[in-house]
Amino acid sequence: MKKYLLLILSGIFLLQSCYKDVGPIEEQAEETQEISYSRNIQPIFDQNCVSCHPSSGNLDLTASNSYNELVNVTASGYQGILVVPGDSESSVLYKKIDGSNVYGSNMPLGRSLSASQIALIKRWIDEGAQNN
Ligand code: HEC
Repeated sequence: MKKYLLLILSGIFLLQSCYKDVGPIEEQAEETQEISYSRNIQPIFDQNCVSCHPSSGNLDLTASNSYNELVNVTASGYQGILVVPGDSESSVLYKKIDGSNVYGSNMPLGRSLSASQIALIKRWIDEGAQNN
């Protein structure tokens, strides 16, 4: 009897440790949750972009500057706005990460964001590109 109890307890423990094993913070946003710029988007820039983008392409994606550098700002290297709130397809930022190569090289240079990261950035723009 004691053996069974131990087995059940360790089963529960194992299950719990599975549930705790959640992905990176930016991948935790549920379909129903509103995207948060600081919680979901900036961490993608921190991990994939700021190594080159305190300055590359005249673009600073560090936490204190990225929002003001992107939203309703004309691109420095292309004819277009970096982020058009509510319209990802017209946003140079989105076309730079979606693999379309409409505006030169795909970002991050030499590789690609994950599909879920690309989808998060698209949703953030389409939901109005809020600074939240
Ligand atoms: C290895 C260095 C490197 C990394 C990493 C990188 N970039 Fe770039 N990025 C550049 C260079 C160089 C340019 C300028 C040439 C060009 O426009 O393709 C640029 C240009 C851009 C531009 C155009 C800016 C403008 O106003 O013309 C955007 C938007 C951009 N990057 C977004 C990103 C994003 C978002 C990430 C992370 C997901 C990223 N980049 C990661 C090197 C990098």
